[in-house]
Amino acid sequence: MSRIRPADRHSIREAAAILAEGGVVAFPTETVYGLGAVVTLDRAIARVFAVKGRPARNPLIAHVAEVAAARPIVQFDERAERLAAAFWPGPLTLVLPLKVGSIVSPLVTAGLPTLAVRLPAHPVARELLGTLGLPVAAPSANRSGRPSPTQAQHVLADLGDAIDLVLDGGACPLGVESTVIDLSEPGRAVLLRPGGVPRRAVEEVIGPLAERRLEEPVRSPGLLGRHYAPSKPLRLEAREVAPDEALLAFGPVVPKGARRTLNLSPKGDLAEAAAHLFAMLRELDRDDVRAIAVMPIPSTGLGEAINDRLRRAALPPEPAAS
Ligand code: TXA
Ligand code: MG
Repeated sequence: MSRIRPADRHSIREAAAILAEGGVVAFPTETVYGLGAVVTLDRAIARVFAVKGRPARNPLIAHVAEVAAARPIVQFDERAERLAAAFWPGPLTLVLPLKVGSIVSPLVTAGLPTLAVRLPAHPVARELLGTLGLPVAAPSANRSGRPSPTQAQHVLADLGDAIDLVLDGGACPLGVESTVIDLSEPGRAVLLRPGGVPRRAVEEVIGPLAERRLEEPVRSPGLLGRHYAPSKPLRLEAREVAPDEALLAFGPVVPKGARRTLNLSPKGDLAEAAAHLFAMLRELDRDDVRAIAVMPIPSTGLGEAINDRLRRAALPPEPAAS
């Protein structure tokens, strides 16, 4: 078994030492648990891809302890400065031009001329990054395609022995991943992934966000296809439920008759629903149900990120796994 340690000053220092020597460590952020490796160490980064079963063409986010640590590796423009000032530390990732001569391993960016950066708000993540003093690439600490881990036990269940340490900082308060904004093209800001910072809040700072152009070469390979998925099929927008289904409910009025029911938020609160989403999907994914029915969830605020994850979890498995 991997070692799991409650996150405290000692275990965080140990985690920083393991990372510095080329290890891989899972740690809590305010969104989901990340699986970290130092951005300059090719072999450690390669291990992150291998452990997750992640396609090498899907780039990683570099996590930094302070804005100053991002400046040597990416080019900030005025929009990036404004967004960083407004939302960092916090659940916002910026895709920016990679600086020429940057020390970041090309495995992190999957060879792209851009790099995604974020400054997380979770105190354990911040202390770890600050102690280490180097940017850490960290995808979500799940097996590729599975629901993201919001508890240390989810990391162990998915990645077991394959990683060096799990820092247990309890449940992640936000529960959905960061919002990813692509600023790599001057004059155009693209929402690549809805997440913890609602679209409206970003638009209040830099104006309207563009949608991804479908004819464009894929800018964010991780945003396509089935993802976040339990092993049982999902049925969305469910207003009634069958006896052999599990029900992921939302709000005070819940149809009866499911084999088992969990409610994302009985009072209909989207922040509470986001915090419960991945843990409840994992919990309803049992052999005694045929499918998981999910009640409709409004798409306002954090609801956009929740519905994005649910839609992608409901896609049929790809014929050839990539
Ligand atoms: O909240 C989060 O962002 C979590 C925590 C651990 O920080 N991390 C996370 O990482 O969700 P991951 O690897 O599961 O998702 C990163 C997303 C992927 O969809 C990836 O394709 C995209 O960001 N991405 C990373 N670098 C990119 C780049 N240079 N250009 C476009 N998209 C990029
Ligand atoms: Mg992920």
